[in-house]
Amino acid sequence: MTGLANKYGALNLSQGFPDFNCSPELIELVNKAMRDGHNQYAPMPGLMALREAIAEKTERLYNTKYNPDTEITVVPGATYGIYAAITSVVKEGDEVIIFEPAYDCYEPAIQLSGGKAIHVELRYPDYKIDWEEVKKVINFRTRMIIINSPHNPSGSVITEEGIKELTKIVSGSDIIILSDEVYEHIIYDGMKHCSIASVPELAERSMVVSSFGKTYHTTGWKVGYIVAPALLTKHLRKVHQFMFFSVHTPSQVAYAEMIRNEKYYLELHDFYQKKRDLFIKLLTGSKFKVLKCSGTYFQLLGYELASEERDVDFAKWLTIEKKIAAIPISVFYRMKTDNKVLRFCFAKSDETIEKACEILCKI
Ligand SMILES: Cc1ncc(COP(=O)(O)O)c(C=O)c1O
Repeated sequence: MTGLANKYGALNLSQGFPDFNCSPELIELVNKAMRDGHNQYAPMPGLMALREAIAEKTERLYNTKYNPDTEITVVPGATYGIYAAITSVVKEGDEVIIFEPAYDCYEPAIQLSGGKAIHVELRYPDYKIDWEEVKKVINFRTRMIIINSPHNPSGSVITEEGIKELTKIVSGSDIIILSDEVYEHIIYDGMKHCSIASVPELAERSMVVSSFGKTYHTTGWKVGYIVAPALLTKHLRKVHQFMFFSVHTPSQVAYAEMIRNEKYYLELHDFYQKKRDLFIKLLTGSKFKVLKCSGTYFQLLGYELASEERDVDFAKWLTIEKKIAAIPISVFYRMKTDNKVLRFCFAKSDETIEKACEILCKI
């Protein structure tokens, strides 16, 4: 859709990235790191200063201690981290439960490892996990469950009840959890992010993935990290060592400094909630139905009142004819389930949001 948006000069609310810059302080810190000579390979698991800062942050937020030496690994973005995590433990014949609509990088990694993705559907319109369905598909081949909260593309979040259900379901099994928490700081309406890392019974069997790209408006830098118990980290690093080895050094020096300012990430939800609320307010009176998101910087809009077209066709029409690009939700489903819903990214300047809503209100 980004390609199509560029071709037709459309406002691009499809792909998930900000159209505003990251903080000048962060840019200065990277520049300084380069000038100070931090330009050679970092250690394979990541710069110790950064891993220590991650350990402190994780303990402060989620009350769980991870050893920076053996349980924290800096990776070149969450997509890579997810790939490395999956390939490090999934083998031929293993089953991995994923919830769809699903972020697109999970299933290919499962398949390349010889595993099989087992799909549990998050149903329109609230996209909540039905834990009874999860119980039904678990068997002796289930190697992993992949959780993503706040969830892309739906914007739904896992609640404490959900975490309790998950804990019950995996208790007594050797199922590993891969928790994609790249939007951990982007959660709204006073809700609290329930990290898998904060639940000891889950943390001991989980790899938890975070991304600096989402938190610091630097998606193009591709730096993230994984916290996991020592044994899982050992497996993960076997893949990481030969697939990437080490991550861009100056960025790590800069993030090690930035991460110590907790105000920055603790206020991020406020920053994005203002944008979400502006987007929703400006759509009042339009034909679009808002399925209010609880987290992430994506807002789903139902367009049933505007068109009967399939979502892929409607999204193309919007881009080409109305000059606004969004993502059709059916592409996140294996069976291309079409509820006539599009995903709009509101990580945009207020001016872009206003222009987008002006177009949408005329449809
Ligand atoms: C749910 C989810 N996981 C992972 C990623 C990838 O993050 P990164 O850019 O750090 O690879 C994204 C990016 O859009 C995402 O939405």
